[in-house]
Amino acid sequence: MDKDILILAIETSCDETSAAVVRNGRVVLSNIISSQIDIHKRYGGVVPEVASRKHLESISPVIDEALSEAEITLKNLDAVAVTCGPGLVGALLIGLSTAKAIAYSSNLPFIGVNHIEGHIAANYIEHKELEPPFTCLVASGGHSHIVYVMDYNKYEIMGRTRDDAAGEAFDKIARALGLGYPGGPLIDRLAASGNREAIDFPRAFLEEGSFDFSFSGLKSAALNYMNSKRMKGEEISTADVAASFQEAVADVLSAKLVRAALDKKSEFVVLAGGVASNSRLRELLKQRGEQAGIKVLYPSPVLCTDNAAMIGCAAYYRFIRGIRSDFTINAMPNLSLE
Ligand code: KG4
Ligand code: ZN
Repeated sequence: MDKDILILAIETSCDETSAAVVRNGRVVLSNIISSQIDIHKRYGGVVPEVASRKHLESISPVIDEALSEAEITLKNLDAVAVTCGPGLVGALLIGLSTAKAIAYSSNLPFIGVNHIEGHIAANYIEHKELEPPFTCLVASGGHSHIVYVMDYNKYEIMGRTRDDAAGEAFDKIARALGLGYPGGPLIDRLAASGNREAIDFPRAFLEEGSFDFSFSGLKSAALNYMNSKRMKGEEISTADVAASFQEAVADVLSAKLVRAALDKKSEFVVLAGGVASNSRLRELLKQRGEQAGIKVLYPSPVLCTDNAAMIGCAAYYRFIRGIRSDFTINAMPNLSLE
């Protein structure tokens, strides 16, 4: 394609208000992220109504900043893209209504993007060699999926969590350890000073051949361990609990992901979503991937967390295939990838 394609992308599915300008799918001209973490921290998790109000306050300045950092105006754009699901309905609606208004008033094509597709696409931005097919783990606060990426917008979900998402399990254990929110990065940091073999927490590999996950047994085991220590008046090494818990999660996630990649004969295995920032998961996957002869890729932390650049990237591959969304599309809190 001769002409550069510039897409303005908007992401408001949870607690980050983000806008980005992306050129030809893989070049990020701006990626502004306004995080609400400091507001939700005091409640120990995201409060949906508060999130919607904060998105409303931030969305226009964030879009203005994204356009000005990219040194373009609405006139230079080729399309407007937005996350339409899954996510919090009130939060999604703010981004969706704004994107529709900009696209309609500027007479631009409008593209709704699946948030999980965006997380996967974050990898294309930094890994120019990456092309489908490949096998990917999407692990965030709301999802834990093993996905076979057949093409840019064609997916097979090979496995999913049967209870908590991996990030959710990190957040719950962090709360029980008194660490705060969001728990994943705090456990990751604390685990660095702990012994990952101190406590033998259970790993749920489920039925033979299954690519599904279950974290509820592990979560209960960690909570029971802490309660029984407290009842006996014994001291708890929070660093050992963090390291042993993290090890159990990283062990199961990396083992299943490598097995799924071998099953599909993938050249690449890829991480995506907030939990993809986890240092032990990255390390263990690198080791196991290399042993199996599979290349392991993941995005930098800023592209693992919710951001609009990943939405702009995913939207580009829809745009060049002529895929457009109707202005009647609504927020879809439970939108599936398949
Ligand atoms: O993708 P994301 O930013 O938002 C959702 O779409 O949910 O993921 C947020 C989740 C939170 O549960 C957070 O605790 C977790 O990702 N997370 C991590 C790490 N950084 C973020 N979990 C484990 N280790 C990390 N370093
Ligand atoms: Zn996300």
